[in-house]
Amino acid sequence: MPADLHGLPITTASAEAAAAFDRTLTGYFKYRADTPTHLAAALEADADFALAHILRGYFMLLAFNQNQVAAAREAAQAAKKAIGTTTPREQQHLAALEAWIAGDLDRTIGLWEEILVAHPLDVLAFRLAHFNNFWLGRPAAMRASIERIESKWGAELPGYGTLLSCKCFAYEECGDYASAEPAGRKAVEIDAEDLWGTHALAHVMEMQGRTVEGIAFLNQMEPHWQGANNLAHHLWWHRALYHYERREFEAVLDLYDRRFRNLASPLTQAQPDLYIDMQNAAAMLFRLERQRVDVGERWVELADKAEARIGDCRSAFTLPHWMMALAACGRYATGNRMLEAMRAFGDGRETLAPIVRDVALPICEAVLAHRTGNAGRAVDLMRPVLETMHCLGGSHAQQDVLEQLFLDAALKAQRLDDVRRLLVRAARDKPLPLAQRVGYADAEKALTQ
Ligand SMILES: [Fe+2]
Repeated sequence: MPADLHGLPITTASAEAAAAFDRTLTGYFKYRADTPTHLAAALEADADFALAHILRGYFMLLAFNQNQVAAAREAAQAAKKAIGTTTPREQQHLAALEAWIAGDLDRTIGLWEEILVAHPLDVLAFRLAHFNNFWLGRPAAMRASIERIESKWGAELPGYGTLLSCKCFAYEECGDYASAEPAGRKAVEIDAEDLWGTHALAHVMEMQGRTVEGIAFLNQMEPHWQGANNLAHHLWWHRALYHYERREFEAVLDLYDRRFRNLASPLTQAQPDLYIDMQNAAAMLFRLERQRVDVGERWVELADKAEARIGDCRSAFTLPHWMMALAACGRYATGNRMLEAMRAFGDGRETLAPIVRDVALPICEAVLAHRTGNAGRAVDLMRPVLETMHCLGGSHAQQDVLEQLFLDAALKAQRLDDVRRLLVRAARDKPLPLAQRVGYADAEKALTQ
């Protein structure tokens, strides 16, 4: 029986399909834009290759787009036809895909972790669990997942770098920068094209306020992003975040237009409303406006895309970003329609339903209230969810925009207790003096006056 790049049996009669499958896995963990081409080659060589169909389904769901769920379901059906002759591991992957399609993320992650108990080298299960834990705001689960399998891996294995990248990111999100950085350094030393390692290191530098070093580091790594997928946009966003902290707002806007929100780029044209790109863009415009930077008409295309996706709650963290765009364009009725759709989703049984209902909903309402001049209401809506909003997913660097929303509302409403509350929280989560942080320095000054 053929095996994948780590020696795990895969059920296919075609050596060509097996080789293309390995290229797909490698492309996936290296964030390469041509990954779907390799997967298509695998399925072309063997149309009954169950695990390749499952992978196709996984890729559909990784877009966090309700419109792609039907294609994921179709991939699961295709996998099912051939699943009878496959290994228990492949069958567990099909069960995980089906649970993910149904929106049962706890069961999905549980199945991947079960696979990893028996097959700690299953990089697909590992990476998918890492990623989905991240988008549920579970950094401790990300770290535990690594710690369970780390000793089973060796530096000689293909993909060892990606394990270290994930280790760096998990530790960084847990606030353990001293453990995170060496893992990330090693990851990019093994493979400079490892975008996740570069990204994890960018986070360490962001959290520690190493802006000059961060800009130089990303500049140095940028030649290795040729052929990368949208994670390259997010890396440019990180670079823009360093410039933002240095009050270099022209540089931020330049990166916005030429790099992470370049509407003419092939990557953006292929997926104009991809969740991570929408988050990057909206979060940066919101931050810039707080600094009284004129962002022109940039919100409009974001609002158009948000409006077209109303009712899609597959990415909980994207929802406040969509609402920011709608509110910035004065589309309040549309915003209310989105709230209604979120309420309907919140009545469902999916893992994200209570998260959308109890956390995303009040925050989205707060976004609207804040933009319509009702800052006090925005504060009241957000205060109860400050300690649970990490469940929306996203990193500390990304969640920062929600903290800034609350802070801005508290300042506008002159709720000094709430300003203080947020500053205490911000100081706890980021080991950097508030006076050195653009979004927080003025608030700190206001409190001491
Ligand atoms: Fe990031």
